[in-house]
Amino acid sequence: MTQFDVVVIGAGAAGLFAAMRAGQRGRRVLLLDHAEEVGKKILISGGGRCNFTNTGCVPERFLSRNRHFARSALSRFTQHDFIALVRKHRIAFHEKTLGQLFCDGSARQVVAMLLAECDAAGVDLRLRHRVTDITRGDRFRIETDRGAFTSGSLVLATGGLSIPKMGATGLAHDVAHRFGLPLVDPRPGLVPLTFAGEALDLMRPLAGLALPVIARCGKAAFPEAMLFTHRGLSGPSVLQVSSYWREREAVTLDLLPGQDATALLLAAKRARPKAESRTILAELLPQRLAQAFAALHLPPRVIGETGDAELRRLGALLKAWRLEPSGTEGYAKAEVTLGGVDTAGLSSQTMAAKDVPGLFVIGEAVDVTGWLGGYNFQWAWSSGWAAGEAA
Ligand code: FDA
Repeated sequence: MTQFDVVVIGAGAAGLFAAMRAGQRGRRVLLLDHAEEVGKKILISGGGRCNFTNTGCVPERFLSRNRHFARSALSRFTQHDFIALVRKHRIAFHEKTLGQLFCDGSARQVVAMLLAECDAAGVDLRLRHRVTDITRGDRFRIETDRGAFTSGSLVLATGGLSIPKMGATGLAHDVAHRFGLPLVDPRPGLVPLTFAGEALDLMRPLAGLALPVIARCGKAAFPEAMLFTHRGLSGPSVLQVSSYWREREAVTLDLLPGQDATALLLAAKRARPKAESRTILAELLPQRLAQAFAALHLPPRVIGETGDAELRRLGALLKAWRLEPSGTEGYAKAEVTLGGVDTAGLSSQTMAAKDVPGLFVIGEAVDVTGWLGGYNFQWAWSSGWAAGEAA
């Protein structure tokens, strides 16, 4: 068969969900992908356990040029709806932290669930199909290296540019652009930050060390763990701020969340004036970080001989360590792509292109990006559902 009501390109999280929903509505659906298996990013997500949603999913936890765009789709198919589906398939799961839900077993269970639902809905799934051209006359015509297909509706669900090694392409962006939809410049998000010069000299020997911090960029603040790497900083708090960071901006780190660093240093000076300043610092920070910090910011004296002003300066530094990243580790390491198809060209209720009847764009290809913690899959399910209801 080559004629369908709906063709969905991209059998990732969003595409599987849109195909499933359209099929459930009785539409004849073709789901195409160039990969040899579906849902590769689902399989590697959450360390193989897939953080499939977040119980605290609210529109405010998404970045987009239009902050309100995600609200409609997220409220039509919520995290609770997805949790109900997971329960229906008897997939055991647990909350790890901050509302993040993971499979107890394997991410494969989520892919198996989506495939079973697509199968029950009569979706025709075809893998290893490379799309070579898309045109639109009365209907969409999708040319592939294994034949052409036509459809009344076309859903672009090929994701973003992150992890090109896994087959990510800019197809959705390119096709949307060709049909006249505006784009927001894409850039890597949820990505480790890189540093140069003195900052990197300090960080590199600390690679592997993790500690709780509050990472800030502009108004965004994330109290979570941070990890030093050979190229700079990573860990959940840094990945989160990376989505807010722009070139030449600074990020600041609170290395002692919830504690008054200056008060602690001054109290230690009074209580134990003979203690080495470095020893005191090592009681507040992990040893290796304390040593590195002391080498830069503390003379090798007992704390009783260190001036209050100096301790205040150190206290302020520990609460707001200001750093200017030189860049990010790029799409090779980014969990998501920020930007993409501009929401200005799409209906927030159906994900349909306003000026191209029958064209839909969903998932990561759209300029809607969630925080770390299951939000991006929820966007894939919600936007996929919205399109599947209308396509
Ligand atoms: P997705 O990328 O999933 O799917 C796109 C599909 O289109 C793929 O099957 C691809 O093969 C296909 N395709 C691409 N180009 C094509 C072309 N030219 N022709 C045909 N097919 C094409 N999120 C989360 O909420 N919780 C988590 O635990 C994680 N963990 C995580 C770990 C890692 C390492 C990464 C890289 C990402 C995550 N994410 C995540 C993010 C999450 O994986 C991502 O937001 C969703 O997979 C996006 O779903 P989409 O369906 O939009 O794209």
